[in-house]
Amino acid sequence: MTILGTSQKRAFEEDGFVVLPRFATAAEMESLRRRAAEIVDAFDPSKQSAIFSTKDESANQNDYFVQSREKISCFFEEEAFDDAGQLKQEKALSINKIGAALHDLDPVFDRFSHSEKLKALAPDLRLEQSQIWQSMYIFKQPHIGGEVVWHQDASFFYTEPISVVTFWFALEDATVQNGCLWTQPGSHKGPLRERYVLNDQNVLVRYDVDTSPWPDEKDAIPLEVESGTLICFHGLLPHYSESNRSEKSRHAYTLHVTDARTDYAADNWIQRSAALPVRGF
Ligand code: FE2
Repeated sequence: MTILGTSQKRAFEEDGFVVLPRFATAAEMESLRRRAAEIVDAFDPSKQSAIFSTKDESANQNDYFVQSREKISCFFEEEAFDDAGQLKQEKALSINKIGAALHDLDPVFDRFSHSEKLKALAPDLRLEQSQIWQSMYIFKQPHIGGEVVWHQDASFFYTEPISVVTFWFALEDATVQNGCLWTQPGSHKGPLRERYVLNDQNVLVRYDVDTSPWPDEKDAIPLEVESGTLICFHGLLPHYSESNRSEKSRHAYTLHVTDARTDYAADNWIQRSAALPVRGF
């Protein structure tokens, strides 16, 4: 069974991404939004010493982040707090994202992330033996949703050869106003510019791989899509999103998937222990 038509496969190869409107149903999107709201509701920040510790704050935050690879962890928007360290708006409107093992640990996200339809789609994107390393629920909250600068997802999910594909589901309409994705079609044909790896102290660090500049923003196009749309993009495709200053949130759910026929780098920040082995679709 093949999901993509010839022109869609060509778009993925030539542009580095393919947009699939109405891939998911309204009921599916609603169930993910509802489940995410429940997770945030159950999240008690006061028990989260990693976030509020005054001593050695950055090390604790790094540990909280690294451990999230095998957990369901909530992260705040950078602009969520006032100068006194208090939330400026209710908790539900303060969370930046939930990560990174929703697809393995939460029954609702597990079901959605391992559907027959995704299993059938993966080979059309050169994923013959899928491995889903990460899931993220991204809120892009009204007013405070932070920008994400130019990057390539292969910087985080490095394999030889590069195989990572990002599955980006719009859970709400994504527009220029609320911070949709931007990219330059075809720019995945450029080099990998940087990598993010865990160093021997288990701290996430960045280094240059290739100093080629990022695309010029005047060459970037916005990917404005309706709720239910799936955008699949190549791991080398540079992309960014602007901050959200609008009244509307821009929820999205993402999966990062590599091919098991390639070599997954031992210094990628996401690794799996024997307790939670990596799975495919
Ligand atoms: Fe990304």
